Amino acid sequence: MESVGLDHPALLYAAGIVYNLASFHRLLNRPSRKGEPDMEFVSVAKLGEIPEGRGESFVVGEHLVAVFNVGGQHLAINDLCLHMGASLAEGDVHEGVVSCPWHGWRFRLCDGAWCDNPRIKTETFPVRIVHDQIQIGLP
Ligand code: FES
Repeated sequence: MESVGLDHPALLYAAGIVYNLASFHRLLNRPSRKGEPDMEFVSVAKLGEIPEGRGESFVVGEHLVAVFNVGGQHLAINDLCLHMGASLAEGDVHEGVVSCPWHGWRFRLCDGAWCDNPRIKTETFPVRIVHDQIQIGLP
């Protein structure tokens, strides 16, 4: 009888089918996240810990995130200013815009746009409130 090597096309084909079936099975059985993008949320503070009109900086995963309280709504952007890396959480907030404490670059908190050239944006992060926890979403 002829021996069949591990690199025989029929064996590779069969291995591919098994791998794809296993992937499909994992996809069907993962937890439901209706309406939520595939991301992890991390608690950073309790409601009320970030004063109205101010920001706080948090390490979230590998990110430094500035979370602001704007009229009771919490918004999160990259804490590091795109100019020279100052902490935007230390900046003043006026009408949904934070001004960098070092040289005054201004960023819209709703979408991270640099006000002088809105095509340039800093990173933003989804925020959700679960019970009394402020949570930041990581992609
Ligand atoms: S470091 Fe933010 S404007 Fe210069």
